[in-house]
Amino acid sequence: MKRIILGMLALVSIGSAEDINTKWATNENCQACHQNISSKWETSRHSNSHFSKNDLFKKSLEYMVTKKPTMILEEVKVACAECHNPRIAKSEMSKEDKVGLLMDIGDTKENFKGVLNTKTMQNGINCIVCHNVDEIHLDKNKGSRGLNSIKFGSQGTMFGPFDDAVSPYHKTEQRAHFVGDNPQLCFVCHYSSKNENGLEVYGTGKEYDMFHEENNVTEEGCKNCHMSPKRKGVASNFAPAGGSPKERMVREHRFASVDNSNILSDYIDVKSHVDTQKFIINVKNNTPHKIPTGYGLREIILTVKFFNNEDKELGKEQQILAVKWKDAAGEETIPHLAKSIARDTRLDGKASKDYAFTIPQGATYAKYTFSYRLISEDMAKKIGVTDNFFLKEYTFSETRVNL
Ligand code: HEC
Ligand code: HEC
Ligand code: HEC
Ligand code: HEC
Ligand code: HEC
Repeated sequence: MKRIILGMLALVSIGSAEDINTKWATNENCQACHQNISSKWETSRHSNSHFSKNDLFKKSLEYMVTKKPTMILEEVKVACAECHNPRIAKSEMSKEDKVGLLMDIGDTKENFKGVLNTKTMQNGINCIVCHNVDEIHLDKNKGSRGLNSIKFGSQGTMFGPFDDAVSPYHKTEQRAHFVGDNPQLCFVCHYSSKNENGLEVYGTGKEYDMFHEENNVTEEGCKNCHMSPKRKGVASNFAPAGGSPKERMVREHRFASVDNSNILSDYIDVKSHVDTQKFIINVKNNTPHKIPTGYGLREIILTVKFFNNEDKELGKEQQILAVKWKDAAGEETIPHLAKSIARDTRLDGKASKDYAFTIPQGATYAKYTFSYRLISEDMAKKIGVTDNFFLKEYTFSETRVNL
């Protein structure tokens, strides 16, 4: 038996897809001439999408394997790389590979370690992921399929928003998906994706489309908020001998999220008022997608504490905007393993809602906070997340109101 399997394995070779030339492998190859862009990108979650740099992603992969013993870790890593690391040199795992890994035959394990840990992969969703995208073939019914929704161009060509860019290091070409407010490039990974039980685990682009269809408004795209409005700057700090860098209208590569920006307070309004015996907090979502959107265990938290005139705390109440995911046994689980959704309290795109809190007898003032968690406390504990980046609560505003 063993000999037969070995025979099969000899036919399989790793690296059939493209390896990335060291000239384009990481942002370090670009930063000398694209200093500002490179340092902004480094603050973004895109630079942390590899499991070696992301405790939550890593623990999720491990948790999936403990819950589904028929899966092996490398197999899940390859599947998730479709969006998390689309420059993976081997985008599918064959039956033979799986047998090889399970039985530890030949070099299969070592080969996969190599494939999953290249310098480019560890660098995350980097310059050579987005700027090498030549064509986008997104079938919205199938949802985002990362590397399977695009065609990469030849490696020395950087696609971008300009039709007249000249670089001494690489070729340049304009592509429509970089121009104006076009959201297609983001949709390659952020449109929607279902788990194997048919539940939608990410739906940002779909939420966005739904809002625009229902309200018949013009497309605003993603870049104004998550990069920046176009402003005067330079695309490259490189200057030809005797010249100076060319001034351009550019955007910031920050891919603003809760941890590297004030995006939450910039686009979500939180106000309060008192209505007979209730303390009301109104939340207005000015984004075209749900809040929280994206990864299914994010939480937006409203916490109200009531005090009397001796500053004694009389009560505390919370409202949480989030989704609760359940497995077949009814236990809380991660989105990628869920069989059903037990509760969904997210707020729709551009919607506004009042949250009512009961005022205890004798309260003279209230303090409320508006905050965010990247993963709920319970689920973080359950899957064994230890990095404080994911454990802490990000507080965006704290307000005191006399009652
Ligand atoms: C997630 C996708 C993504 C990644 C990753 C990314 N870019 Fe961009 N980049 C864009 C988009 C979208 C634009 C077009 C912005 C606009 O509308 O002007 C752009 C524009 C540019 C431009 C033209 C200047 C400008 O602001 O329009 C340069 C140069 C550039 N990127 C270089 C880089 C480099 C270098 C890196 C890596 C450090 C990088 N990009 C990473 C999506 C990306
Ligand atoms: C030796 C300097 C240099 C290096 C290194 C360099 N670039 Fe550029 N790049 C430029 C210059 C110069 C331009 C043109 C700027 C302009 O026209 O305003 C440019 C333009 C671009 C554009 C815009 C293309 C368009 O048509 O809109 C992108 C995207 C880009 N570079 C990506 C990269 C990436 C990714 C890397 C690293 C793999 C990189 N560059 C490395 C100098 C460099
Ligand atoms: C190749 C797939 C891919 C493309 C293309 C892409 N993203 Fe992402 N994006 C991801 C993944 C995966 C993450 C999560 C990374 C992590 O946290 O490990 C992410 C994270 C983000 C985040 C941070 C969310 C957070 O966790 O805080 C923002 C914001 C974002 N992307 C916006 C954009 C925008 C805007 C575009 C289009 C210009 C874009 N992305 C294009 C895959 C992609
Ligand atoms: C009007 C500004 C605005 C626009 C336009 C917008 N977003 Fe957002 N986005 C936000 C805000 C504010 C948040 C933080 C609240 C949340 O997590 O939902 C956010 C959150 C996100 C997150 C999750 C961040 C996290 O920390 O988990 C992703 C991913 C994202 N947006 C992608 C997109 C994409 C893709 C588009 C375009 C289709 C888009 N956004 C359009 C404002 C905007
Ligand atoms: C269709 C594209 C796609 C696939 C396939 C995919 N992801 Fe994601 N993933 C994303 C995007 C986009 C985000 C960013 C959303 C956000 O931050 O709110 C993300 C974010 C995450 C996060 C949150 C990371 C952080 O830094 O907070 C985890 C955990 C995660 N994914 C796990 C997985 C696992 C496990 C798999 C494979 C079973 C997987 N993903 C497959 C697109 C994908």
